[in-house]
Amino acid sequence: MVIQKICCLGAGYVGGPTCSVIALKCPHIRVTVCDKSAERINQWNSDKLPIYEPGLDDVVRQCRGKNLFFSTDIAKGIREADLIFISVNTPTKTFGNGKGRAADLKYIEGAARMIADLATSNKIVVEKSTVPVKAAEIIMKILRANTKPGVEYQILSNPEFLAEGTAIVDLVEAERVLIGGEDTLEGQKAIQELCWVYEHWIPAKNIITTNTWSSELSKLAANAFLAQRISSINSLSAVCEATGADVSEVARAIGRDSRIGPKFLEASIGFGGSCFQKDILNLIYLCECLNLPEVAAYWQQVVDLNDYQKTRFTRKVIESLFNTVTDKNIAILGFSFKKNTGDTRESPAIYVSSTLLDEGAKLHIYDPKVEEEQIMYDLTHPLVTSEPEVVRKNVSIHSSAYSAVTGAHAIVLCTEWDEFKELDFKKIYEVMMKPAYIFDGRKLLDHETLLNIGFHVQTIGKKLCRTSSIRAQGSQTLP
Ligand code: NAD
Ligand code: UDX
Repeated sequence: MVIQKICCLGAGYVGGPTCSVIALKCPHIRVTVCDKSAERINQWNSDKLPIYEPGLDDVVRQCRGKNLFFSTDIAKGIREADLIFISVNTPTKTFGNGKGRAADLKYIEGAARMIADLATSNKIVVEKSTVPVKAAEIIMKILRANTKPGVEYQILSNPEFLAEGTAIVDLVEAERVLIGGEDTLEGQKAIQELCWVYEHWIPAKNIITTNTWSSELSKLAANAFLAQRISSINSLSAVCEATGADVSEVARAIGRDSRIGPKFLEASIGFGGSCFQKDILNLIYLCECLNLPEVAAYWQQVVDLNDYQKTRFTRKVIESLFNTVTDKNIAILGFSFKKNTGDTRESPAIYVSSTLLDEGAKLHIYDPKVEEEQIMYDLTHPLVTSEPEVVRKNVSIHSSAYSAVTGAHAIVLCTEWDEFKELDFKKIYEVMMKPAYIFDGRKLLDHETLLNIGFHVQTIGKKLCRTSSIRAQGSQTLP
């Protein structure tokens, strides 16, 4: 079979960008991205896409209406496709067996059942969502238990490694594409068909093929390794603050060892995003189910350390402000989980903000890309607060950093947006309450300059002291 039509179930952060790039690179393949949310599909068909991702608007503009379509007509999408990506969400279960750890596979199962119901010809079904090992077996069981005469399925695992904020570059210049399939003639043929799609722009040597289970596990392993590096450097940031070592210098020094490498050694307020915590918890649950408690405990530490880092940073903010933030105005700069995305899933800013709100603070939040409704939704969510009315009263959303900081006792920088580096901090100092505090959770700002202006500054992984030439008023060491 030569693949002519692709359908993707799930028009989210993965399905949308991935299929847009496939459409761009394979002009003769017709790509239809389907979602059961009409609102999401309408946004994909509008001028304001549902997600902010640098470069995405351009790709969509080039292909939409030619060989790229966004539709709620899932039945048509499935029937016509030769190859179907399942790119639905796989959140952590919030109730029942495995609550708080296991991946909830109800959307995967739902997608498989839709395909089983609607398919009338042979399909290659590709699991793109991140799933626990052996999830492909669920899809396989559902499809093969409902096979209609003349319809055959091949199930492949093809996890996605894009990171938000750099999704288009990650897709166009993917370091590797991973495809897992069954070790049968038909399985290998299906792998080759999917390889052919990617080979339109990815060099064949960068396409790795494995068995299905290795492919599924590799995705969890990759995220666990990346998150583990962040927790490792964050653990050392606490040592740096207590000793006078500088975590950036430590990262630079160890990163020069090619066995360690320089990436993902940026100490921070803690990692966020929809993937790291969810996927490690997923791995932990898998280990527990496989009766491997020591392995589960090892990975649990990565999550625990991340929680510790968020708590440690927030505690430092409160303690520095004389151990009370009640009725104080605090500017939160950045709410997304990293720069260049409007996504707030598991953003550390949510934890920091909700803790400060619990302590009675009045928050003034500014983020260049996160909408007001999203911030309010996150902070009033029942898992975050039992007093949504109080939250609504004490949170103001601002359309610029300058407006957020006016009259503030402190600035808490949660996301490393480039524009925060360009702010005029002299001007900001003038409009803030004194003493004026800055807590830089991303090591983003020029601390020397801030100290010189008169700010009290604290950051991650470095004890900041004023030099003797600097006004004594803001001299600062960490607790
Ligand atoms: P998302 O929540 O943004 O999108 C999922 C979409 O699937 C939703 O719009 C939902 O309405 C839709 N959906 C659910 N069931 C459906 C069905 N039966 N038919 C049609 N649509 C359906 O999620 P996401 O961030 O795109 O993540 C999708 C998967 O990819 C997850 O497993 C995630 O772990 C994985 N992943 C995410 C990233 C990332 O950066 N966000 C990166 C790599 C892998
Ligand atoms: C991650 C993986 O990188 C990607 O391969 C996978 O497909 C999905 O999960 P994403 O969560 O979008 O991507 O962003 P990433 O750049 O990995 O950042 C995750 C979090 O870690 C962010 O909160 C980021 O600020 C933080 N981070 C990242 C650090 O704190 N320090 C670092 O050195 C790198």
